[in-house]
Amino acid sequence: MVKKDYELTYSGKKPKREIISKTPIVNLEKIKDFGKFRTLNNWNNMLIFGDNLPVLKTLLSDPSIKGKIKLIYIDPPFATNHNFRVGKSRTATISASEEDETAYIDRLHGSKYFEFLRERLILMRELLADDGSIYVHIDCKIGHYVKILMDEIFGEENFINDITRIKCNPKNFPRKAYGNIKDMILFYSKTNKYIWNDPREPYTQEDIEKLFPKIDENGRRYTTVPLHAPGETKNGATGKSWRGMLPPKGRHWRYPPEVLEELDKKGLIEWSKRGVPRLKIYADEFIKKGKRRQDIWEFKDPQYPSYPTEKNLDMHKVIIEASSNSGDIVLDAFAGSGTTLVAAEILGRRWIGIDNSPYAIKISIKRLLKMKNCRLFTLYNATGKPLPETLQEIL
Ligand SMILES: C[S@@+](CC[C@H](N)C(=O)[O-])C[C@H]1O[C@@H](n2cnc3c(N)ncnc32)[C@H](O)[C@@H]1O
Repeated sequence: MVKKDYELTYSGKKPKREIISKTPIVNLEKIKDFGKFRTLNNWNNMLIFGDNLPVLKTLLSDPSIKGKIKLIYIDPPFATNHNFRVGKSRTATISASEEDETAYIDRLHGSKYFEFLRERLILMRELLADDGSIYVHIDCKIGHYVKILMDEIFGEENFINDITRIKCNPKNFPRKAYGNIKDMILFYSKTNKYIWNDPREPYTQEDIEKLFPKIDENGRRYTTVPLHAPGETKNGATGKSWRGMLPPKGRHWRYPPEVLEELDKKGLIEWSKRGVPRLKIYADEFIKKGKRRQDIWEFKDPQYPSYPTEKNLDMHKVIIEASSNSGDIVLDAFAGSGTTLVAAEILGRRWIGIDNSPYAIKISIKRLLKMKNCRLFTLYNATGKPLPETLQEIL
């Protein structure tokens, strides 16, 4: 990792060595197997109830997990100073009605919050495979500080994207500010040899009409591009004259003359009135592969979430498909309602989910068991205490 001459300073920032060596391990008490089908290599997916810091350290002592995790997604608390509760309506609320159940508490802020996150990120990096990567979902109030921490832990050279995620529809609100409809996802790899499956998305009708403005006699949409490209070729075939024409100065034909003849025979060259040839590109062929995904994503969160701050499932599918392969291990250490785990399950990945909220664990189990053919997963208790009533109910 490239050493930097600047860092985020705050009180209570521990040396990295100390975090790795002094974080205690915990006993992962096996509670129950759920689901039906075994995954590859006799692996059972893991749903762990407890504080993720000692759990991450415990996972580091398992040689089948340390350095084997290919993808981590986390959506930690955002230092909002709220208690997130689940009301009778089953929607996210920050009210304090007696009937509401606490989902999780987000009260850490300032240096305590940053150190809380940093300690966990340091252990997560140790768990990642060399071709692995991490996505950290965060908001724009603290995300810029988290970016600095990530640069320190993962290396600025391993920063890949700061993805802007459109999270909701524009709202009317009383604040003197622009409406906030986005949050951010920081994407880092462990090394420069990370898994990348070049995600694509379909072209919209608007894209197609803009990119392919012409329509041929058969009603097919197309556009044309020059038949020559930059760079001079003095001796090669693409620098030679074709039908008495040399490529313009400083350019060469895209294809040798015999290929240009072939293209013309197939009707793939359009001649202008002044006799300038251009290559025809047809929309129906070009769009098959889809367009490359950019770094602004619109994935609105569910309108009626089963858990406060539940994220969009399709967004998780995009991340998992882009940055892992079938059978790989995916980790979410702030699993909440298990959106990452459900997406991993759908896409045939192995997974590990951790959360210290009994309500989150309960919802995750329910969501996973609702799926057809859910593979086996084991619930572990890492708290060292008896399971709370909320969890006893579903055993
Ligand atoms: C923003 S929510 C995650 C929501 C999730 N992405 C979803 O789609 O449902 C953050 C989660 O982190 C959990 N959490 C906070 N601190 C934790 C800790 N120290 N150990 C384990 N989980 C923790 C909370 O209980 C909460 O469920």
